[in-house]
Amino acid sequence: MTEHIQVSGKGFAYQVTIGPGLLQQPQQFAGLQAADGVLIVSNDVVAELYLATLQQSLQTAGIDCHACIVPDGEQHKTIATWQSIVDHLVRMQANRKTVVMALGGGVVGDMAGFAAASYMRGIRVVQLPTTLLAQVDAAIGGKTGVNLPSGKNLVGAFHQPSMVVMDSDTLHTLPEREYRAGLAEVVKYAMIMDAGFFAWLEQHADALLQRHAQSLTAMIGTCVRHKAEVVAADTLEQGRRALLNYGHTFAHALESQTAYTHWLHGEAVAIGMHLAASFSHQAGDINAEVVNRQLQLLLRFGFDLSLPAGLQAEALANAMLLDKKADQRGITLVLPRAIGAAVISPDHDCASLVKHFQYHLQAAPRQGADVNAECSQPDPSHAPPQHSSNQEDENHDH
Ligand code: NAD
Ligand code: GLY
Repeated sequence: MTEHIQVSGKGFAYQVTIGPGLLQQPQQFAGLQAADGVLIVSNDVVAELYLATLQQSLQTAGIDCHACIVPDGEQHKTIATWQSIVDHLVRMQANRKTVVMALGGGVVGDMAGFAAASYMRGIRVVQLPTTLLAQVDAAIGGKTGVNLPSGKNLVGAFHQPSMVVMDSDTLHTLPEREYRAGLAEVVKYAMIMDAGFFAWLEQHADALLQRHAQSLTAMIGTCVRHKAEVVAADTLEQGRRALLNYGHTFAHALESQTAYTHWLHGEAVAIGMHLAASFSHQAGDINAEVVNRQLQLLLRFGFDLSLPAGLQAEALANAMLLDKKADQRGITLVLPRAIGAAVISPDHDCASLVKHFQYHLQAAPRQGADVNAECSQPDPSHAPPQHSSNQEDENHDH
């Protein structure tokens, strides 16, 4: 059940290994050539669960290791925590042959990756992701960094890992809400580039919600292959890699307008994907079936797509203007053209987004039964997708 996937691009190549029980297999690390030691970076929650297992495997593989445990949480993804990791490297007299190992979710992976990218102008990092989000997304592709008070991920570097080991067993201890949040990024790959995978997710939704080992490995493997392909084609996000931001520009606005407290990132991305698909439908670029299929899958995965009271359409649209993907001509959106196909669509103006948010704030889809409420009072100037229970396209002329 172990899968190996090669990620390569200009100047880098590494292997991603996916499967159950990998952290307890010393052979996974035997080829590391880390004679000058390893610094494992983890947080207090993940270290409690998996640090001893990893240390045992490294010891058996003959690798000397130290550990730097940082506090858990996005609020600690800061310059101060980055400095504590670098200080640890200094204290252990790390040199250019030392390896940093990131054991944890995307927060640990981004910070440890950035410490490795910057210490002595760059030493190797091995990513050992333990959340679904990190396994399907953050641990591959080389984006590293920390947040500043003025914005998320504002300081960082592209620094590809030299090895990625994804132990799917670690997902069994992941809280339900975190696991489901990761599923939003999985739906993202299916929507932007793989209709067959989308159908597979529909068929395997129950097994995936129950975290069946075989389905997990297959799902993660598909996401990693897609990300590897995009990263190989556009490592520094000059073009195609921006497709991976599907749903994210809407999500960032929602998150910033709720002070990052209302949703986990993946939960906001789920709503963002629904808003993006609905936007495409409203523009006449996709039929309602596309919106409906995505909506039904997101609901099946347990996402609550309702918008909380108190959000303002103008403030949300303005927050999108501040996004990294906006410029003076307007906002760049990733918009679906079908299940499994999306485009990078620039120059959207604020007014069209205000109107879009206004509609969704008035008639936001909620869980299951309320979905039809969205199409019960269609606004002819801004017609939403029809959400009929049999997913028929009742609005394909729009
Ligand atoms: P996270 O790292 O905060 O992990 C979520 C929670 O789960 C934390 O409390 C963590 O301690 C806990 N946890 C981790 N693994 C666990 C396990 N196996 N069992 C029990 N608990 C576990 O969050 P995340 O969603 O993994 O990552 C979000 C971060 O990733 C954000 O900072 C985001 O900017 C970044 N990110 C980076 C990229 C990239 O390409 N580099 C892509 C997407 C997101
Ligand atoms: N998470 C998006 C990217 O890596 O480009």
